[in-house]
Amino acid sequence: MYRTHKNGELRIEHVGQEVTLCGWVQTIRDKGFMIWIDLRDRYGITQLMFNQDVSSSELMEAAKSVGREFVVKATGKVIERSSKTDKIPTGDIEVEVTSFEILNASITPPFTIEDESDGGDELRLKYRYLDIRRTPVREKLIFRSKLALETRKYLIGDDFVEVETPFLIKSTPEGARDFVVPSRMNPGQFYALPQSPQTFKQILMVAGMDKYFQIVKCFRDEDLRADRQPEFTQIDCEMAFVTQDDILNTFEGLTKHLFKTTLDVDLGDFPRMNYDEAMSRYGSDKPDTRFGMEFVELTDIAKGKGFPVFDAAEIVVGICAEGQAESYSNKDIKKLTEWMQRPQIGAKGMINVKVNADGTFKSSVDKFFDADALKTWAEKFDAKPGDLLLIMAGETDKTRKQLNELRLEMGNRMELRDPMNFKPLWVLDFPLLEWDEDSNRFHAMHHPFTSPKKADVERMLNGDHETMKALRADAYDLVINGVEIGGGSIRIHDRALQARNFKLLGFTDEEAEDQFGFLMGAFEYGAPPHGGIAFGFDRLCSVMNGVTSIRDFIAFPKNNQGRDTMIDAPSLIHDEQYDELFLKSTAEVAAE
Ligand code: AMO
Repeated sequence: MYRTHKNGELRIEHVGQEVTLCGWVQTIRDKGFMIWIDLRDRYGITQLMFNQDVSSSELMEAAKSVGREFVVKATGKVIERSSKTDKIPTGDIEVEVTSFEILNASITPPFTIEDESDGGDELRLKYRYLDIRRTPVREKLIFRSKLALETRKYLIGDDFVEVETPFLIKSTPEGARDFVVPSRMNPGQFYALPQSPQTFKQILMVAGMDKYFQIVKCFRDEDLRADRQPEFTQIDCEMAFVTQDDILNTFEGLTKHLFKTTLDVDLGDFPRMNYDEAMSRYGSDKPDTRFGMEFVELTDIAKGKGFPVFDAAEIVVGICAEGQAESYSNKDIKKLTEWMQRPQIGAKGMINVKVNADGTFKSSVDKFFDADALKTWAEKFDAKPGDLLLIMAGETDKTRKQLNELRLEMGNRMELRDPMNFKPLWVLDFPLLEWDEDSNRFHAMHHPFTSPKKADVERMLNGDHETMKALRADAYDLVINGVEIGGGSIRIHDRALQARNFKLLGFTDEEAEDQFGFLMGAFEYGAPPHGGIAFGFDRLCSVMNGVTSIRDFIAFPKNNQGRDTMIDAPSLIHDEQYDELFLKSTAEVAAE
């Protein structure tokens, strides 16, 4: 037998028992006549003690010969510690070792296996098996496992059926590039890895499955960010005979269940806000509602007063940073403006007004606006003495987006974004289509299978180009703390409407038939009204733990270049593989 107990298990009531433990050597303290080893496994740490008075010299030698991360097996008696610690649950006891075996040696690890490691990101990814030995990383993976279990419990308890859908499929457009896989048996042809199981889950509704879910890998060849990986996991769902409300209620219930069972957090009912309102109040379709600092529009009262920047602008809009007037010197404001002017944000400039303690104003536009004018602004902002108004002007969408960045930055600086204060929000009524100036065509704002609102169907079928820009969809996102956790929609379940949508998106009839004939064909065999949603599972894990990066919740994530540095993928393939797959090698292409 390898072990009678795990390393997090022994307590004062075990004193006197003989036990056998296995694990990795965390630390060694050698006082010559006594040696202590902290033995670690997934469950915790137990202190082993070797005492020259009790142990043979061979045993003392064996204990002295081990190094960090050696794998050992130790047998001995549980005794009460003379110097107890409450830092670990086993801190009242230690094991006085009578038999000791080295199961495997370890070379010195490239970084410390401690809660705070000295290893950088890249090094820890290359040696991920060592990184996962660290408690914070291991606990995140355990959290993920628990979250998946609770998801299954909740959804299966609500009659959902988990169905697996294929990974080798035909490309499904969800806005990103596909990863493709060459087919040996079909020369020159390729599978695509699914960006999501979207079309399959809709087909399952036509097939009468009624309530489907899957915790499923999705693959998207897009640029990486902290909250994006090329392969990630969704809690993917679809339901038949449902309205938008039915879906929101079901997934609000799931979210509340997950927060309660894993964090013991009670989320109240989720507020709902439509897209237009989110854009005008926060300049974002995923507003962080942990704090106010909402947008206030001054266009009416600030335009047409001779200040060229405002006069040329479509919108004049700002935020009020409470109590910040004194904290921001002219130099600080200049720095903040420069921060806004970085190419990532691209603001042209920023106007500021300080409401002084005595109620007077100091602004960067004193030349154009007198105290009375500034007073009307302050009233609009509901500003108090000591507040700082930050105002921007320009083209509406762009200006709002830039001000959103500023609001989030000020929220950070003013410490208003406590990561463990959870504020969920449903954002509803997204536009159906988005006009793209560069490619001169419409894109689906969610995806091409999303239904317009019932009231907009007629306009969609018969309206002109401008009408299309105003169509609203039964599409919704769940946002928590400013992070898009999930998105979904009511789907089109009618062949003619789906065909119209493809046409608007620039598909010819042949292209639509070639790519989605199977789905439109299925719609002709009694497709029920249906809709669904998918949560980003990795993102949900990270938001629930108050962190921004999803990497630590993925056992083997990719680095910023999309590489797995542990296995060194992607990699070259053998020449024979090129031949088998009817591909040309780089050498062949070069020779041509
Ligand atoms: P969508 O594309 O909005 O919808 O994706 C759903 C959720 O998946 C997460 N997500 C990601 N997480 C990590 N890395 C990525 N690269 C990544 N991309 C997306 C986000 C997002 O909200 N088929 C539809 C769902 C539906 O309509 O039912 C879909 O995939 O949290």
